Amino acid sequence: VLAAGHPRVSPTFRIRLAKLDDAEAVAALSTELGYPQTRCDAARRLDGLLADPDQLVLVAEMPDGIVVGWLHAQLRHELAVERFVEIAGFIVGAACRGQGIGGALIESVLAWARRRAVAEVWVRARVERAETKTFYERRGFRVIKQQNVLVKRLPPAGAVPAPAGATGDSGGVRG
Ligand SMILES: CC(C)(COP(=O)(O)OP(=O)(O)OC[C@H]1O[C@@H](n2cnc3c(N)ncnc32)[C@H](O)[C@@H]1OP(=O)(O)O)[C@@H](O)C(=O)NCCC(=O)NCCS
Repeated sequence: VLAAGHPRVSPTFRIRLAKLDDAEAVAALSTELGYPQTRCDAARRLDGLLADPDQLVLVAEMPDGIVVGWLHAQLRHELAVERFVEIAGFIVGAACRGQGIGGALIESVLAWARRRAVAEVWVRARVERAETKTFYERRGFRVIKQQNVLVKRLPPAGAVPAPAGATGDSGGVRG
């Protein structure tokens, strides 16, 4: 993997493992992608991920030290299928696209997946991002299904559930 001690060095950028210090850049890029977060949010999440060997967080760094992209992949263990690697988040800043940075991040995650002896790398890309689908297809990924993604919001921790039959729209008492 293009990891600590084995950085991929190119004339324009390099791919390396993320550090806690990257939190500010990661947050700014995430916000650009449509997942707003603060530096503190990113630092808290990075802190957990960096300690877990089944998580890979890479960044693309320019020669001046500016981080212009990140990729988070994870080794997934599921009951129904063999272990696989999934790309959970991936962005290159709009100003730096089209220079091969995204492709290099993908190569790095593929190398990591091979080292973890998995047979498949998955990614779920939004249907409306047609260029992203093409980007992956050019790199050998194939669409295998489309899904509905559903979510159920839970009351905040500490909220007391309303008794059965209670009326009102709060659904519970906030503690
Ligand atoms: C998908 C993404 C990470 C690719 O990053 P990138 O650094 O532009 O990737 P590359 O430069 O390696 O490849 C981009 C491709 O688009 C072409 N391209 C050229 N100019 C481009 C530009 N200004 N912007 C984007 N792509 C451009 C490149 O030639 C390249 O073509 P190829 O697939 O034939 O190699 C980036 O576009 C992005 O962050 N998109 C928005 C978020 C997103 O979709 N993330 C993935 C979520 S699953």
